[in-house]
Amino acid sequence: MAFALNTYPITYRSQFTDGKWSGEYLEKPHKTPEEEAAMNADDRVRLENSRNYYDDMPLVNYTSQYGLACFEGLKALPQKNGGLAIFRPDQNAARFARSMTGLCMPPFPEELFMEAVTETVKRNAQLGFTLKYNSDWEKDSYMTADSVYIRPFTMGEGGIGVNLSIEPYVMVITTPVSAYFKPGRSDALVTDKIRATPNGTGWIKACSNYVISALAKSEALKAGYMECVYLDATDRKYIEEGSSCNIFFYLKSGELVTPELGDTILPGITRASIIELSRDKGLKVSERKISIDEAMEETKECFVSGTAAGATPLTSLTYKDKKAVFNDGNEGDFTVDIRDTIKGIQYGKLPDTKGWLVQVI
Ligand code: COI
Repeated sequence: MAFALNTYPITYRSQFTDGKWSGEYLEKPHKTPEEEAAMNADDRVRLENSRNYYDDMPLVNYTSQYGLACFEGLKALPQKNGGLAIFRPDQNAARFARSMTGLCMPPFPEELFMEAVTETVKRNAQLGFTLKYNSDWEKDSYMTADSVYIRPFTMGEGGIGVNLSIEPYVMVITTPVSAYFKPGRSDALVTDKIRATPNGTGWIKACSNYVISALAKSEALKAGYMECVYLDATDRKYIEEGSSCNIFFYLKSGELVTPELGDTILPGITRASIIELSRDKGLKVSERKISIDEAMEETKECFVSGTAAGATPLTSLTYKDKKAVFNDGNEGDFTVDIRDTIKGIQYGKLPDTKGWLVQVI
């Protein structure tokens, strides 16, 4: 399974009208998962794709015309002892509300967010659309493990003028996914493109931020790299993020560094969790500026983090005509250890001492 779209049948939809949110669960055509698996591939794909179409929503809207929208990404993880649990959904609920407020939309209430994501996962599971734990995932510390990806997002109401969205929709879809990055080669290219500028939307999980990501990442892929890394817009020398994930440098000195939050960095929930777990391990963790020169000279291990990315190693960085290879091109011990810890908690192999999991089934 890849990081691909195969929408489960039940979707949540709400719209802010008459000063309130009115939500509903929509059920799209489906058979049982076993019957769908037995269908010929073309028919199955047609059925799965049909679940992604809605003909009762406005075509010309502030999202389709001007990219005014934001989203979240979170996962329901099959638990080692059975069932499914969502990792820190309260954090996504809070960030979604902040993102919507940042885009001058009425924020989606956090308690409604919690209910919509858990209920969407649960209702699909009741139809049989869910995943089971596989102990083979432990062999590569969950690099290639599956999960139910939950994608809440906003969509603008109909309109053609450049305008704010005051009556947005909020949708929640779910889809099974596997690894976002292919395990193996993981060279990264420092791109000239700029993801976010001061006083812009970099701190918001705004859909429009990902336009540059798609462009920069496709350039990197074409040039034979797996990932791209951005520098800041002002000095053009401080590292900011990977294509759609935060970034960490485990330095030769033993310090773990990640760029400090500001208005150009996305406040990642995996980022915050890795910081906390690394501090628990006794590491010196700094949220500070790190220049490309320091990163290239002083790094022992580098990895990107995110809901989709997990903790994926970058084994080299190429900037202009210089290439720095980390840990002889191999994934380092710290990266494996921190991924083992966070994924172990997420999949219920390690105890959830922080109360980060919300059990759904
Ligand atoms: C996530 O990590 O869930 C994200 O939102 C990144 C996404 C663009 C794949």
